[in-house]
Amino acid sequence: MDIGTTPVGIVDFELATSHFVFDLAHLAAQQGIDVNKYHVGLRQERFSMPALDEDAVTVGAAAASRLLARTGTEQIRTLIFATESSVDQSKSAGTFLHTLLQLPQHIRVFETKQACYAGTAALQLALALVARNPRERVLVIMSDIARYERNTAGEPTQGAGAAALIVGANPNILEISPISGVWTGNVHDFWRPNDRSTPLVNGALSLETYLRSFTACWNDYREQGGAEASDIDYFVHHQPFTKMAVKAHERFVRTHKLENGSEMIEPSLRYTPIIGNSYTASMYVGLASLLHSSNALAGKRVGLFSYGSGATAEFFTAQIVPGYEKFLHAADFQQQLHSRVPLTFEEYVALHDAHERTGLTDYENPQVTCAPFRFAGVREGVRQYEARTNEEA
Ligand code: CAA
Repeated sequence: MDIGTTPVGIVDFELATSHFVFDLAHLAAQQGIDVNKYHVGLRQERFSMPALDEDAVTVGAAAASRLLARTGTEQIRTLIFATESSVDQSKSAGTFLHTLLQLPQHIRVFETKQACYAGTAALQLALALVARNPRERVLVIMSDIARYERNTAGEPTQGAGAAALIVGANPNILEISPISGVWTGNVHDFWRPNDRSTPLVNGALSLETYLRSFTACWNDYREQGGAEASDIDYFVHHQPFTKMAVKAHERFVRTHKLENGSEMIEPSLRYTPIIGNSYTASMYVGLASLLHSSNALAGKRVGLFSYGSGATAEFFTAQIVPGYEKFLHAADFQQQLHSRVPLTFEEYVALHDAHERTGLTDYENPQVTCAPFRFAGVREGVRQYEARTNEEA
């Protein structure tokens, strides 16, 4: 039986990030260490940080609202929200997004979780739904706040970001192949128990598992009939910090004796150094970086490696659709990046501490964000989200 006869993939997409930005030079100065540990060792310069009235829901809603302003909501019968910055143990935060985005009532909404891989899990589910009924579209929103405990090794790899995708038949931007290589292992490299707001991390194990799972996914991808390494033009990896993707790619290039190794990955590495980790959205931020890098990518094959600690990983490929450049909005996102408000070290520490709200039941957040939606606080145990009106701008 033939698989994947209807071309399916990404029809349109948008990105968003948070209100604040923090420069790692301040952190290095306070720690009394050489900033090149971050600039060269991790290839990270800055990271996005949410205001108190922002969270994964508001950042995701910002990306999706700009997207839906272009595409409308017609044909959308599913919203999948991928996050590991979950705001409820039971109710999908997608239901908040459903209200903020004024989506129709006849729609299924749910949340996916498997660390950073949850975004790709959502995309693969969306592709399957669309392949079954090409008249339907799926809205996939991936959004995360990467927040680590202060004074831990993970601190310089924090960040915040979201990607919103319309997945459908006959896509405008990216046609995704049905062949995937997948891998799962029960590994404690990075996890967040229910009573914690920050993850527990075994850094060395996380790097090793990321690299090991990339090889395992690649081998499975080839066994499933996937393309040869030399037939792939560009690579986009999950980017917990930029150097991680580079490390995985360099090893791959050596193994497969590929030429122009760095040219295949560098275009995907322009945003993460200044946003930081965006967990579920990270690989899609890398994909946007690649697509925004040139108007001459039509027909190119892209290899995508998605990794989620815990751990599940997937490698798959996609082809860039002729005319894709007409659907990109790079300048809007770059403007968002430039508009972020820089934090001093003292402001960063105060904000990091203020985000730790374990034990608080009801509270009201100050109005800070300039994004279209805000998290106003918690009233009688219920999270309050609202559209920010222009008068408040
Ligand atoms: N100049 C240049 N380079 C320097 C330097 C200097 N002055 N000082 C140090 N370096 C280099 C080191 O040599 C090292 O490079 P190599 O790995 O190439 O040798 C690099 O800077 C980092 O130094 P350390 O290994 O000493 O750093 P660390 O132990 O303090 O922390 C980390 C690194 C473990 C990645 C930590 O940031 C962390 O725990 N991050 C969170 C976990 C993570 O991101 N894991 C990635 C895989 S898991 C995943 O992908 C899921 C996810 O999103 C979390």
